[in-house]
Amino acid sequence: MRLWLDTANIEEIRQGVRLGVISGVTTNPSLVAKEGDGNLQRVVTEICELVGGPVSAEVVATEVEGILAEARRIARWHQHVVVKIPCTEAGVQAISILAKEGVRINMTLTFSPNQGLLGALAGATYVSPFLGRLDDVGHDGMQVVADLVEIYDKYHLPTQVVAASVRHPLHMVAAAKIGAHIATVPYKVLQQMLQHPLTDVGLARFLKDWQQVAGAAVL
Ligand code: G3P
Repeated sequence: MRLWLDTANIEEIRQGVRLGVISGVTTNPSLVAKEGDGNLQRVVTEICELVGGPVSAEVVATEVEGILAEARRIARWHQHVVVKIPCTEAGVQAISILAKEGVRINMTLTFSPNQGLLGALAGATYVSPFLGRLDDVGHDGMQVVADLVEIYDKYHLPTQVVAASVRHPLHMVAAAKIGAHIATVPYKVLQQMLQHPLTDVGLARFLKDWQQVAGAAVL
């Protein structure tokens, strides 16, 4: 399983990369807007250089021709760019054209196994079920992740499932057990995965105990 960061914040990405466990990044228009920088090309190129792996950048066009033009332009920004395209009728049509041209696509705003199946058949490299947003409206988001993993596996479809809209550490454990190829996590969840109060208590005790004899040791 691979771990991506779901953020457009450069400092968070720097820190995630330092940790050595992050192999990609996903952005979306909301995340980029949150950073207050409207120059998507500059932001995405900088992230690509930092992370050295797949970086998803989303189109905002909604019609087929517009999506095609925008996706082709975004795809030229950097070798690591993956173009994010929403799962709409125009989106799926554009994905099927772009995939044949060799453009790597992450199909976003995916909320059902059927949408995910269509994305894979259209040739998306990645499909991102938004599990947190499904949970928000009373559906079982993780079930969509599980269904897609099973369907792609059954038919040997090369599309990879990106567990997205991850909200807390238990989402991560479930996505990992289910076999999601990738999970994209907010920086806060990455920190939550790392931390455990017993680690802090245990370390404090080790250091305190060691101090008692280390001070007395003859060097
Ligand atoms: O990668 C998808 C993600 O950005 C959506 O997350 O928390 O806005 O549902 P959220």
